[in-house]
Amino acid sequence: MKIYSGLSNPSLAKKIAGKLNIKMGKIELSRFANYEARVWIKDKANKTAVIVQSFSYPPDEQVMEFCLITDALKRLGVRKIIAVIPWLGYCIQDKVFRPGEPLSSKVIAKILHSFKISKIITLDLHNEIISGFFEMPFVHLEASQVFIDHFKKSKDIDTIVSPDVGALKNANNYARELNLPLVVINKKRDLSTGKVSIISVSDKIKGRRVLIPDDFISTGGTLIQTAKFLKDKGVKKVYAALTHHFYAPQVQEKIEKSSLDMLYVTDTIQKPNKKYNKLKIISVAKLIAESLKES
Ligand code: R5P
Repeated sequence: MKIYSGLSNPSLAKKIAGKLNIKMGKIELSRFANYEARVWIKDKANKTAVIVQSFSYPPDEQVMEFCLITDALKRLGVRKIIAVIPWLGYCIQDKVFRPGEPLSSKVIAKILHSFKISKIITLDLHNEIISGFFEMPFVHLEASQVFIDHFKKSKDIDTIVSPDVGALKNANNYARELNLPLVVINKKRDLSTGKVSIISVSDKIKGRRVLIPDDFISTGGTLIQTAKFLKDKGVKKVYAALTHHFYAPQVQEKIEKSSLDMLYVTDTIQKPNKKYNKLKIISVAKLIAESLKES
């Protein structure tokens, strides 16, 4: 088995290969003059190949690159392709919100299906139910254990805050595992503008050191607003543990200036080459490597 990486997250791919003590496949990725992706697998492929590629930013380019790598490997005779897609782009579009919109997460499932991918390994989908769109074996890993192990050692927090009702199951898991009280925030989002407004919080939180677990940060709006809301209510420290950070332009810069004290994220999406004071990254390489061992 060899691991092939697209351009979206080569550092995670290398870490996974290191944990498994297996080689990275040789691959050349470039662009033609008209910006079409060009893929060239430069070694003899084995029967099984793992492709590591998040569909993160810009997602369409990364999906296309993944498809071209898959096609190249199949043409070299690879029979079994395991797709490690740490962030499964388009999974947020898990339903038709307004008539006239596509069911985008299912479109991704159809694309992957058409390439006869043997297995998909991903992490923290926005809505686990979409795993039903995929007909091949589908492994849905949760990064919560990685964060929980970290916070068991750090003792920095004394309360878990669920950022909304949708995140309650995950937040409850943190509260149980860390043996901490759970507080829930009630928010609403305007479907056409995407603007979030916080309505209330379920308990007295003054003086607490809280952790907000969530699945992803996109514009940062939810987190920045929640951190400010909590600080205004007298919360002492606000930390967040989020599986996926898209690093959309200027978002981390906004976090740096916000009321949030520290943002913990995983490496499902590769961090840009910049230094940030309010960002700590915890790797999911071991979690993915363990899952690949069972493949
Ligand atoms: C909400 O349901 C999600 O889990 C995230 O909390 C949220 O949508 C993140 O988006 P943004 O960073 O744009 O507020």
